Amino acid sequence: MSLLIKNGEIVTPDERYVADIYCENETISRIEPKSASRTDSSRGEIDNVQADEVIDASGKHVFPGFIDPHVHIYLPFMGTYAKDTHETASRAALVGGTTTFIEMICPARGDRPLEAFELWLDKAQGKSACDCTFHMGVTRYDEQAEQDFREIVRRGLSSFKIFLAYKGAFGIDDRELYATLSLAKKLGVIVTAHCENADLVLELQRKLLAEGKTGPEYHYWSRPPVVEAEGVRHLMTFAELTGAHVYIVHTSCEEALNEAMRGKARDVNVWVETLIQYLLLDRTAAEPNFEGAKNVMSPPLRDKKNQEVMWKALADGSVATLATDHAPFDYETQKQMGRDDFTKIPNGIPSLEDRVNLYYTRGVKSGKIDIQRFVDSASTQAAKLFGLYPRKGAIKVGSDADLVVYDPNYRGMISAKTHQMNVDYNSFEGMQIEGRPHVVTVRGKIAARDGTFIGEIGRGRLLQREPCHH
Ligand code: URP
Ligand code: ZN
Ligand code: ZN
Repeated sequence: MSLLIKNGEIVTPDERYVADIYCENETISRIEPKSASRTDSSRGEIDNVQADEVIDASGKHVFPGFIDPHVHIYLPFMGTYAKDTHETASRAALVGGTTTFIEMICPARGDRPLEAFELWLDKAQGKSACDCTFHMGVTRYDEQAEQDFREIVRRGLSSFKIFLAYKGAFGIDDRELYATLSLAKKLGVIVTAHCENADLVLELQRKLLAEGKTGPEYHYWSRPPVVEAEGVRHLMTFAELTGAHVYIVHTSCEEALNEAMRGKARDVNVWVETLIQYLLLDRTAAEPNFEGAKNVMSPPLRDKKNQEVMWKALADGSVATLATDHAPFDYETQKQMGRDDFTKIPNGIPSLEDRVNLYYTRGVKSGKIDIQRFVDSASTQAAKLFGLYPRKGAIKVGSDADLVVYDPNYRGMISAKTHQMNVDYNSFEGMQIEGRPHVVTVRGKIAARDGTFIGEIGRGRLLQREPCHH
């Protein structure tokens, strides 16, 4: 199978130029620049080459396939399961331009890590249309678990996930935190972390419920910004002492970001992720009646003033990546579990499908984010941090031919009526988008075209990654 993409504007963090791209055997085999703006002198056309498929990308951008470094597909959580399967999630991802995602393996505390690893692999193997890999959840640390983590790294995972929140479920204590970071440092593994102080959350939840405050709007008050900031500060202390490389997932507010930046200033190896939800939704989306449960997630949606802080931090690179933390739970059934008690609302917002288009529309089109930084934060940085670069996140000869031919002139609207995600609502319902993938390829084969999935379920690969010292 060969593919020729003609006359598109390649946009990567380092370069921006018009070129023809030729792909064979799942990878990019030739790039022929056409634009005078490129510094090297090789200019020409790939006119004499035969290809099985030719795409005219004139007037369109060509981006490396987008990478979502934080999604939940198989997720037993809060007494239920997230709704997507690898089939539905990969369809949604591809239609929206995401060609690789990294899923969190989240075993219960009592589960054996190696068995959880195999279970999560089994849920994905042969069922995805796009490539994926995993962060290994460390939800318990003892001698046997350590042996399992070493084995899992040998088998090709190079990142751990820890929760400082969710006491009694996924959360770990300080002894386990220290041991996890120490092992990660030894193995060259980066540790992704959910930072909220679990004890404070529990105390605040108890207090609010005792006062009869049971609605979804009180979720915010059980996890205010200082609770998240305290979690980040705690992680910074442990990362400083162990020298481990850490990645703070779903950073929602200025207070938490400031703690991470304080860590960075004293040479802690820290990277920060934020989510499309935090950029576009604020805490009023979880109010004033039970419908707000649709937008209950942790850390909670914040006051609007944080949005500008996060946009700026993304633009200047203080925040490295934009992810989704995709966690779909139906409103009509699952979110109802918390009708009388906000602590029982399954936490999560579905967003895998819409991240790229919303980020492009509200970031690039509105002038908040430079287009090259857009690619960097939604693709390349994740590839670099999690051991996938330059196979993914790049448009280079030899890279996987995961490409997004992006139409900046498309106009449309987000709706649960038309989305692919297996969930009965969309938190971005009615929002306009200005741009959409025209063609999305996975290793040289077209998987989505103009909003329609045309990929192959089961073609997705589970990616092996080497430990890397960033
Ligand atoms: O509310 C959230 N974020 N749900 C998914 C689980 C997690 O904490 O990442
Ligand atoms: Zn989390
Ligand atoms: Zn998550």
